[in-house]
Amino acid sequence: MSKNQELQARRDAAFARGLGNALPVYVERARNAELWDVEGRRYIDFGSGIAVLNTGHLHPRVQAAVAKQLEAFSHTCLMVTPYANAVELAEKLNRLAPGPTPKKAIFVTTGAEAVENCIKIARAHTGRSGVIAFGGGFHGRTFMAMALTGKVAPYKAGFGPFPPEVYHAPFPIAYHGVSVQDSLDALEHLFKFDIEPSRVAAIIIEPVMGEGGFYVAPPEFLQALRKLCDQHGILLVADEIQTGFARTGRMFAVEYAGIEPDLMTMAKSLAGGFPLAAVVGKAAIMDAPGPGGLGGTYAGSPIACAAALAVLEAIEQEGLCRRAEQIGVRMVGALKAAQASLPSIGEVRNLGAMVAMELVKNGDPHAPDADLTKALVKRAGEKGVVLLSCGIYGNVIRFLAPLTIPDELLQEGLGIVLEALRELTGGGVAKAVNA
Ligand SMILES: Cc1ncc(COP(=O)(O)O)c(C=O)c1O
Repeated sequence: MSKNQELQARRDAAFARGLGNALPVYVERARNAELWDVEGRRYIDFGSGIAVLNTGHLHPRVQAAVAKQLEAFSHTCLMVTPYANAVELAEKLNRLAPGPTPKKAIFVTTGAEAVENCIKIARAHTGRSGVIAFGGGFHGRTFMAMALTGKVAPYKAGFGPFPPEVYHAPFPIAYHGVSVQDSLDALEHLFKFDIEPSRVAAIIIEPVMGEGGFYVAPPEFLQALRKLCDQHGILLVADEIQTGFARTGRMFAVEYAGIEPDLMTMAKSLAGGFPLAAVVGKAAIMDAPGPGGLGGTYAGSPIACAAALAVLEAIEQEGLCRRAEQIGVRMVGALKAAQASLPSIGEVRNLGAMVAMELVKNGDPHAPDADLTKALVKRAGEKGVVLLSCGIYGNVIRFLAPLTIPDELLQEGLGIVLEALRELTGGGVAKAVNA
């Protein structure tokens, strides 16, 4: 039994099966866009720990900032005796959040917690209870976040009942025949059939659907949502947990639409691997809940705040927004070129370095190939690339390489993925995908 196999057997015995696992690979160390397992095998990391490492594994600035903070103190609790780096980080995030309205922030520990707090704040401010989210969206695994999530299996099945007053509208996905107008019509139907707009506190949307399949919300849709929310006094919440911090070629993806959300969630790449999440929003809205209504024991850990300040410095000084655009162009070019000889690649799409390829049978958008997608993640892993899948139908490969990845590694990783796909499909029609 290899070391990886031995650990996998122990893992399976020790952890509940509800905790997913993409690859049976046990990591010993990692740097930038590469990691090495306990058997000394090297992997190119196209997953970034699910979009957490836009600045790569152990970015030197992050490592140094964390080491320095550890010399000082590791925890006092921001709600008891606060510290300067948390204040500095809140000020920076308030400045970076799109739009001219003055902002305020809170820190929490996970993305789901940020989503939960957005809804608390929205309800406290509006005095309304309803929340609208989108089919296929993912907002986390806690109860309100799970209710907002628009995918039953595996996230909601067996876990109900959910908090009431949550409604879903279809996300506009041109590839699946859902237009912007279809989605706007569906919202009007919700207002007609389910809840009057004057009882809706918030509409929450991922500007690029993450777990749901990397579908980009067209700018005109986000602009229309902004208008609709203004018309009815509804708060617009942008869930930028996966799209934030330069991933899409802008600090935040809503910048492409030129809109100002009322509230935003941030997590994942905010602190380069340290657990930190935030809600940033218009100051008057953020101040709606009373003192003590928001917070958490670990919320705004000083170590995570030090890491986050270093991440923001790296994004700015290393031009990572521009780099995300370059990575996107390069990857999409290579994947589209391969599409000609690989008909299982139904669509290639991106916003900056948030790149996806959707795998289908016979070039048919309505024939998702989830088996091939699963097999590709496995085969790429065996060949030394960490790859993630996603998608409403489980048939999308999402590429989330660190934005600090050197070109040669990007090229090498892409070559391996395409070679694996060719092996699985015989260069054309899918075969032996369950191998
Ligand atoms: C858009 C979005 N919202 C919320 C979450 C939940 O974040 P966490 O897993 O940190 O709770 C995720 C995680 O994948 C996400 O992508």
